[in-house]
Formats: sequence, structure tokens, C-alpha cells
Amino acid sequence: MNAGHNPDMPELDISEPGLPGVDGSGALLFLENLRYRWAGSSKDVLDIGRFSVSRGERVFLQGVSGSGKTTLLNLLGGVITPDSGVVSILDTDLTKLGHAARDTFRADHIGFVFQQFNLIPYLSLIDNVTLPCRFSKTRRNRITAKGTTPADEATRLLSQLGLNEEARSSRSVTALSVGQQQRVAVARAMIGSPELIIADEPTSALDVQARFAFLDLLFHEVEASNATLLFVSHDPALQKRFERSVRMVDINRAGITEEA
Ligand SMILES: Nc1ncnc2c1ncn2[C@@H]1O[C@H](COP(=O)(O)OP(=O)(O)OP(=O)(O)O)[C@@H](O)[C@H]1O
Ligand SMILES: [Mg+2]
Repeated sequence: MNAGHNPDMPELDISEPGLPGVDGSGALLFLENLRYRWAGSSKDVLDIGRFSVSRGERVFLQGVSGSGKTTLLNLLGGVITPDSGVVSILDTDLTKLGHAARDTFRADHIGFVFQQFNLIPYLSLIDNVTLPCRFSKTRRNRITAKGTTPADEATRLLSQLGLNEEARSSRSVTALSVGQQQRVAVARAMIGSPELIIADEPTSALDVQARFAFLDLLFHEVEASNATLLFVSHDPALQKRFERSVRMVDINRAGITEEA
């Protein structure tokens, strides 16, 4: 078969402006033919033909409990690797990287707000926030380039995110309210301006009003650092604040059917 260009058959140009090309070029995040099955399970939890997020987009990913949202985020972060398929972020296929390279890639380019926050109880607030800078020279360098230090940047972020001075001077993260801990978790995800922010149900413990206020702060910070946001929630009330909303049932062929 001749794979060369045939002048009688104009090549399909699907690289419309603003849309990722077939290979995901232009997309910040690109998944193709992704399959994942937990060890010991008899069926795939994820089977995604294609999913992509453009640079600067803020995407709301919605799905019922158990639909595979956190599993998908772990694949995007290179925490786990798929059984098959492509997981491309910033044009790097994470499935082609070794374990250490994936860890470095995640530390440099992805800020995670975990479902359970994962704050470290024996570290101070500031040390919790600056933790990614200890693992990533890239994130440290971005802060140095702004003429500041990780500790000062942590203070700035916490204050921008509405954590008052009294809370900021708290000696332990365990002495903070859930809402305050959420802010610390967001500051930790944002420090050193990673290109992709992944937030896994960060508002689930907040009342409705606090949820919207929290979203405002998160959006403000994401915009200020030109980041792309993938925000996971099963709370449909938040959806209207996002420019794009995606349902797990619509992208995941292995999905739970009750949701449809
Ligand atoms: N570490 C694990 N080992 C084995 N199975 C797992 C593991 N983590 C998740 N699963 C299974 O994968 C499926 C999807 O779980 P996941 O945590 O991704 O769902 P979720 O959409 O994030 O749910 P929730 O809204 O409750 O957080 C579930 O059936 C769950 O039992
Ligand atoms: Mg989850």
C-alpha cells in the first residue's frame, strides 16, 4: 500500500484551529483507546476511545460514584498505567515513560487536588504547600524566575485563596477546618504553575455557597497561571460554571449504565 501523498486525494485536514489534530497536537491532554482493569477484576473499569482537553480549557468531568473518575485521574497523572492506549500530556505519551520519568513528569507539570486532600499532618502549612517544589526543579525554577521564593509564593497563594493570617499561622494543617484544608490543597497544586490542574471532588465537603466561592478562587488562580483545569465532581450544580462539561458515561464504553 502506498502511504505517500496522492495528489488526486487531498489530504484530510482535520487540524481546525482550536481543535486537536488526530495525534492530539494542540491538545494539552489527549487519550486514545485507553483501557484499564483493576487487578483481580473481571471487567474493564475504563474503555475510552478518545478524549482530549485543549490548552487553557476548564473542563467539568461528571459521573456517579464508582464510574472511574479517580481511576482516570490516576492514569492521567501517571500514578497507574493503562493496559493499552495512549495517555498524552503536553505531547508526551506517559505510557512510554519509565516509572521515575513519569514521577518527574507529574511533579513538573501536574498539580493534583486529591479527593482526600492528602495533606501531611507533621508538616507546617507552608511546607505542605511548597512540597511539590521539593520534588520538581522545574516548579522551583518558575518561582525563582518570578524573583520570589517557594515559601513567599506559598504565602501569596494561601492569602489569594482566602486563608486569613490567623489560619496561615496555624501550626498544623489538622487544626484547620475542611474548607481551609481545601485551600491549602489547592495552593499546593498550583505552586510553581504546573500546566495542568486536576481536582478530584475538591468541593464535596463544602456547603453550596462555599462551593461557588471556592470555585471562584480556583478559577482566578487557574487563569492567572494560564493553567488547564480538569475538575471532577458528581455535583451537577457546579457544571454551569464551566465552559465544557463531560459525562463519564459519554466517554467511557465500560461505564456504569444506571447513569445514562
Ligand atoms: N485501588 C483499587 N483496587 C481495585 N479496584 C479499585 C481501586 N480503586 C478503585 N477501584 C474500583 O474501580 C471502580 C471505579 O472507582 P473510582 O474510585 O475510580 O470511582 P469514582 O468515580 O472516583 O467514584 P467516587 O465518586 O466515589 O469517588 C470502582 O468499582 C472501584 O471499586
Ligand atoms: Mg473518586
